[in-house]
Amino acid sequence: MHIDILTLFPHMFDSPFSTGIFKRAIDRKLVSVSLHNIRDYTHDKHHTADDYVYGGGAGMILKPEPIFEAVESIKSQIKQEPPDQLGRLPVILLTPQGRLFRQEIAYELSKDNHLILICGRYEGVDERVREHLVTDEISIGDYVLSGGELAAMVIVDAVVRLLPGVLGSEASAADDSHAAGLLEYPQYTRPEVYREWVVPQVLLSGNHAQIAKWRREQAIGRTLERRPELLDRAKLSPEERQLVGRLEQS
Ligand code: 6GU
Repeated sequence: MHIDILTLFPHMFDSPFSTGIFKRAIDRKLVSVSLHNIRDYTHDKHHTADDYVYGGGAGMILKPEPIFEAVESIKSQIKQEPPDQLGRLPVILLTPQGRLFRQEIAYELSKDNHLILICGRYEGVDERVREHLVTDEISIGDYVLSGGELAAMVIVDAVVRLLPGVLGSEASAADDSHAAGLLEYPQYTRPEVYREWVVPQVLLSGNHAQIAKWRREQAIGRTLERRPELLDRAKLSPEERQLVGRLEQS
């Protein structure tokens, strides 16, 4: 997968992309990232990327021309790739007005071989960018960040860890909270007794069927307790639905 990121602050990405799972994914060539400074696509001597809002009001918004030119320049380079590699090319604007990011969207994006992310800044972006350039708008939550950069990092992290070969074992992503629409079950490591707090006996039993059953029940119970709205969409068997009913009664 290749990811192009348009931003006024490319250095914000230095540390997350040079650490841990992400760095390993880059080193193994499972993903590549190009950072593009929006200012490099301006033509005036002050490299103006933002301007006042027509009609008045506080703040500055990003001008359309450098963003269009940056995306068009990226696209013109892709045209030289073999046509069978040209899939969907999502152009995603990070904005608090976008659709809410969730694990399903991470899965969806992990199937693409190329993403373009545009980080909004200041008070927003000229509406023509939304209307005529972007194919998707994503928000990472109902709060306001001072720019789309942190949101882009969140999305890139969530997507890249789903790419085949990035995590040590394929199973670890499948077990994550949210992967099956449920929160993850509780986990323990050694020691077996810590300050008199003991690891649940079933986990030491070696009975894999029992362990799987316990984990599934814990995941369901925990989701009901903390995020009950997730259960509406979770894939549960009829028996598990009954379990939810019983837990709700108790
Ligand atoms: Cl994607 N951008 C900004 N500026 N704020 C946000 C956001 C994005 N998602 C949540 N808050």
